[in-house]
Amino acid sequence: MRKGILTIAAVGLLATGGLTACSDNSGDKAASAKTPKIGVILPDSKSSPRWETADRRFLEEAFKTAGVQSDIQNAQNDKAAFQTLADQMITGGVTALMIVNLDSGTGKAVLDKAKSQGVATIDYDRLTLGGSAQYYVSFDNETVGKLQGEGLAKCLTDKGAKNPVVAYLNGSPTDNNATLFKAGYDSVLKPKFDAKEYTKGPDDAVPGWDGPTAATIFEQQLTATKGKIDGVLAANDTLGNAAISILKKNKINGKVPVTGQDASVEGLQNILAGDQCMTVYKAVREEAKAAADLAIALAKGEKKETGQTVKDPEGGRDVPSVLLTPKAIYKDNVKDVVADGYVTKEQLCTGTYAKLCGEAGIS
Ligand code: BGC
Repeated sequence: MRKGILTIAAVGLLATGGLTACSDNSGDKAASAKTPKIGVILPDSKSSPRWETADRRFLEEAFKTAGVQSDIQNAQNDKAAFQTLADQMITGGVTALMIVNLDSGTGKAVLDKAKSQGVATIDYDRLTLGGSAQYYVSFDNETVGKLQGEGLAKCLTDKGAKNPVVAYLNGSPTDNNATLFKAGYDSVLKPKFDAKEYTKGPDDAVPGWDGPTAATIFEQQLTATKGKIDGVLAANDTLGNAAISILKKNKINGKVPVTGQDASVEGLQNILAGDQCMTVYKAVREEAKAAADLAIALAKGEKKETGQTVKDPEGGRDVPSVLLTPKAIYKDNVKDVVADGYVTKEQLCTGTYAKLCGEAGIS
């Protein structure tokens, strides 16, 4: 994966609308004559609120601004439904299909079928391993994990923890992003385990990023360690909240730092309350805009240069990619997420959170 300056360059280009467009020699010539209609399949609405509250909203916004037709559906974590939705969209005449796969196998089947029917394809947020998508649009997911590892280390230092036991609640084993997040936080935490500065505790993946399953797993982790867990690397806010619910049950919430991701209302409230150490904010508006721009160009038979590729470790392809930059959020900059319009003060500062919002400078 080529990173750093290239990522910034790609973002800059997109922001200024400066991507180079040229006609696509490899693709379907007839595509240029088609009126763009974009199909989007979101994965579920429980593993993270982002899909329905952010991605749907910002994708709709981007398509509306561009004046193109779209059909945004949610597979609700059902792989058969995912395939049916894709079939319906292809039959319904979409010119481009954008998917957030539920796993690489079913994602690949959908992408290959779309391709065989002359429909352009984009992997949105999750790379389909061994897949055939023409573009991949996401965040720099190893950096997301790195921010989580650094965040946990910072919060453990702030608490004055000595040789803390760190437990992992990793994302779904079928999500390539979960692998990348883990590579990122391992790059920060493994050297500390090796140096015996930290102790490696239980390390479990949570199938389907499911909150209730994560709570069960975390309770088992706590039992297995006789309550000796000093920090929790939870891969997103849903898993973080699951751990916090068990810490609350044991009256040790706030004492054990927990990480997260997605800047969900729940995650941000947990941060304001002091129960969660940090989250990672990903500006989904930019992700949706970048993906929508590419989908529209593909539908018109144009090919845009993203200036960056990601290697598919399974298929060996260099997939043209847009990777945006994530940002760490702690109590003192929760306000940035509100200022960016990702969540509103009304959503965040309800009930007991009103006072905490005031203290955190959210006005
Ligand atoms: C996304 C995260 C999300 C998780 C669960 C990942 O692929 O990148 O933002 O929290 O899936 O839906």
